[in-house]
Amino acid sequence: MKARIVLLAAVLTIGFCLPLQAAENIKLGVVTKPGSAQNVVADKFKELLEAKSNGDWTVTIYDSGVLGNETEMLQQIQMNTLHIGIITGGPFDTFTPIVRVINYPFLFKDNAQADEILDGPLGQEILDGLEPMGFKGLCFSENGFRNLTNSKRAVKTPEDLKGLKIRVMNSALHKTIWRALGANPTPMAWPIYTELQQGVIDGQENPLWVMEVYKFYEIQKYMTMTRHVYSPHIDVASLKWWRNLDAKDQALIAECMKGAAKFQRKDNRDKDAARIKLLQEKGMQIEMHPDVDAFRQKVASLAGSDMFKDPAVHDLLVKMLEAVK
Ligand code: PAF
Repeated sequence: MKARIVLLAAVLTIGFCLPLQAAENIKLGVVTKPGSAQNVVADKFKELLEAKSNGDWTVTIYDSGVLGNETEMLQQIQMNTLHIGIITGGPFDTFTPIVRVINYPFLFKDNAQADEILDGPLGQEILDGLEPMGFKGLCFSENGFRNLTNSKRAVKTPEDLKGLKIRVMNSALHKTIWRALGANPTPMAWPIYTELQQGVIDGQENPLWVMEVYKFYEIQKYMTMTRHVYSPHIDVASLKWWRNLDAKDQALIAECMKGAAKFQRKDNRDKDAARIKLLQEKGMQIEMHPDVDAFRQKVASLAGSDMFKDPAVHDLLVKMLEAVK
């Protein structure tokens, strides 16, 4: 007994005297499940930061929407109860119209152009524009180009969309796009498998990885390679939390997030060809060459619409449209 007391006293003394280096923990949220595009970024970020900081930083990933949907996670980031989120560009729309510029339909020609613009000064303007809302924009990773799926019929032209109930993200711009295209857009937070299965909605639009990871091939017969919007994730931190970090930690965290984003974009793109093959094998009927010009024409007047009436947002859109010419 005496020996035990002595041991306990020794442990407590050492505990109080040695400055125990407790690792700082980052709470990171994503709405999607393992294997998803957001999760690839989150996992890589955790791996890089924990290795490069020699364990001074740890990262806990909360995935599958355990912290709520993407809008709710953005609110938590604003309040600093969540440090970092890998969040789809669409839901930022309810916080600031500036993100509409990067969600503009048929904006980027291809992946290379998306990278060039988003990693350049215009992308930085968007990231900086999030600060008044309490977000520190770190960088962009990606969902990829979005494509349409539905359970009713093959879609090749906008006329084929008539009457189709299409789920869209919680974004005024996305709703406006799908109304202009001629569908019946229904905003809904993620996930949506049950709603598709039960026929509450006929279709949805997302990049190829979503159809694979969420097994939409089980419930959506038709896919159209519309590539109507390039959909970035914005990798954001709580500005309140960020401002309390020292410059060295800020630089390390930013470097690891940029490294994770670069890794994930390549990983996502490398897998796309195999995904098309898999979805076809699973029985999806894929329209590889829809009448994209007809879809584009339907949304051609969007730049002059109410969606871009804020002068600063409109100016940024004009610069963006000029840059992608
Ligand atoms: O459609 C959405 O809500 C998003 O694209 C998703 C699937 C959550 C991935 O970012």
